[in-house]
Amino acid sequence: MSNYILAFESSCDDTAAAVIDDKYNLCSNVVGTQVIHDRYGGVVPEIASREHVKTIMSVAAEALRQAKIETGDIDAVAVSNNPGLIGSLIVGLSFAKGLAWSLGVPLITVNHMQAHIEAVRLTEPELSYPYLALVVSGGHTELVWFQSAEQVHIAGRTLDDAAGEAFDKVAKLLGLGYPGGPRIEKAARDGNPDFVRFPRGLRQKGNYNFSFSGLKTAVSDWIRNQGMDLSSSLQLTADVAAAFQASVIDSLASKTFSFARSSQIPTVILAGGVAANRTLRDRFIDEGRKWGIRVIFPEIRFCTDNAAMVAAAAIPLYRKRLFSPLTVNASSRKGTVQSSKNMPDPSLRKKKIDV
Ligand code: KG4
Ligand code: ZN
Repeated sequence: MSNYILAFESSCDDTAAAVIDDKYNLCSNVVGTQVIHDRYGGVVPEIASREHVKTIMSVAAEALRQAKIETGDIDAVAVSNNPGLIGSLIVGLSFAKGLAWSLGVPLITVNHMQAHIEAVRLTEPELSYPYLALVVSGGHTELVWFQSAEQVHIAGRTLDDAAGEAFDKVAKLLGLGYPGGPRIEKAARDGNPDFVRFPRGLRQKGNYNFSFSGLKTAVSDWIRNQGMDLSSSLQLTADVAAAFQASVIDSLASKTFSFARSSQIPTVILAGGVAANRTLRDRFIDEGRKWGIRVIFPEIRFCTDNAAMVAAAAIPLYRKRLFSPLTVNASSRKGTVQSSKNMPDPSLRKKKIDV
């Protein structure tokens, strides 16, 4: 008999729920994206929290309906409780706590960035350590070396803007709107990546940190110095988008593979919203071939925020019975290393759990 986990994700502007069984079979995956933010050119935190409150119940019901299970079939409730927008996290966490309490099942809290990485197990459940993961999202850019489940090291991180944030800011400069990543990727398809060479941040050998705020300033200065109205030239917009994207991809790929090679890490994972970018994925595949390093990604639909990744990240914790007390809090503190408060707690163990 299967055990089912109902998982929630509400850390930013997506209200999502998914059902998975403890063998990594995904039974449903529902994502409600809040389009209301488009008109403000970015996520408005207070609006995001209120939208989560409005939709979380129906998203949960739809996830159960698609999975063809009922609340009584749920064996654990999982939720990402950090990092993210604090108001948004609290909505998902409170809902998950209430549901776990009312059903008498354990609560599992998951780090959102770790969930981005664990999304690869939806296609490769048996993935083994060691591996190097580059997590690139709207709020994070981190290079994390998993020697084992317990030995996790941050090899590098951004010192200023995250990669996704750079995409969003430059898209705004180019008048492409929000969210910037997919729009820059689309515009760049018709552009020349060598049209202008924008800077690559922190290029010194052995420096595995990232920096993207100088790049954003360089794009902004370049546009101003041209004295041109970009909106009058689709080709110019495409060329600048392609040249900007090339700079981001170069920094991400060169640092990731340089670290993997120097530490002889056999596998590289690319995860997070920016990992949905096909040009970036192609570059990682090329680098992997060149250096004999295996490269894996989550499926594109599991790269941007979703609850299937939270469900996948909850499975190892469920198997080890690492549950959270109902007093656990949400936190906006940045970072990938597991910082939720799961711990063995016999009072929360459900009898029917069979590991
Ligand atoms: O992981 P995610 O969905 O949310 C956060 O945890 O932040 O990542 C969202 C970020 C946004 O900055 C968005 O512009 C970027 O991922 N993104 C992309 C693409 N799709 C989403 N960036 C580049 N190319 C894409 N195709
Ligand atoms: Zn995310």
